[in-house]
Amino acid sequence: MEEDDQVLHLPNPMTGFGVPNNPCVSSDEEVVAKVGQADLAELHSDEGCTGHSHGEIRRDVERYGGDEPAPHVKKNVLEEIRKWNLVWAGKNKVASLDPDELEFFLGFPKGHTRGICTTNRYVALGNSFEVDTVAYHLLVLKGRYPNGINVLSLFSGIGGAEVALHRLGILLRNVVSVEKSEASKDILRNWWEQTNQQGNLIEVEDVEKVTVERVEQWMSQFGGFDIVIGGSPCNNLAGGNRDSRDGLAGEQSLLFFDYSRILDLVQSI
Ligand SMILES: C[S@@+](CC[C@H](N)C(=O)[O-])C[C@H]1O[C@@H](n2cnc3c(N)ncnc32)[C@H](O)[C@@H]1O
Repeated sequence: MEEDDQVLHLPNPMTGFGVPNNPCVSSDEEVVAKVGQADLAELHSDEGCTGHSHGEIRRDVERYGGDEPAPHVKKNVLEEIRKWNLVWAGKNKVASLDPDELEFFLGFPKGHTRGICTTNRYVALGNSFEVDTVAYHLLVLKGRYPNGINVLSLFSGIGGAEVALHRLGILLRNVVSVEKSEASKDILRNWWEQTNQQGNLIEVEDVEKVTVERVEQWMSQFGGFDIVIGGSPCNNLAGGNRDSRDGLAGEQSLLFFDYSRILDLVQSI
């Protein structure tokens, strides 16, 4: 069977969170409103790389009403749904998740990214760790640092790693957070203050500013780092998020080598 001939099934509508069975979205107009101006504005700005706007995806499926869409439409729609994290909002209806819903699914506290513009919320959440997955991996640390942990957090974003450690009940003694985006830095700082963290949050704006001298100074000040954690930008690597196919040589993704440089540095001191 050719790839294009494969039988594709569009799932039945999800029930529950933010979909029509939920009283907050009850009519077609509301579903359209949910797809929303801000989302459409943002997704239209991506038309250049996708060749298919969010509004078009919606029209593609909705014009079939209760009927089964053509196989090529189903294939395209399923790809776009995966790419844009769309959800089934009814029979042949799709809607985007709003930032509050994304926060919920990613395991962040409610309103974690509030206070910055919608586009930046989507960008920051789209780049972030999934908190519970990170917490699962970090579970082995629980109980090992009764006096708190010293963290070198590279590419901290909106603090997926910090939120995960906090959720595990691990005291954040010293966190050196290296993050370029002002919006993301504001979010992490706000979370730090709102959760009454007693430790020190030290902000550094660029991984390139993490020099031997600075690492040595932090390590002598704190007595070493217990963990180096982070996810470097994957724009040139990751499927739907790919700007180009340059891989680790790509302008964004080559920052991975800074991660590796800094990790080697910490291990060698
Ligand atoms: C894949 S995201 C990591 C997000 C983070 N793990 C989280 O939970 O939110 C990569 C992050 O690297 C940041 N970044 C890009 N260039 C940077 C640089 N030169 N120095 C520090 N951070 C940078 C981006 O702003 C982005 O937040």
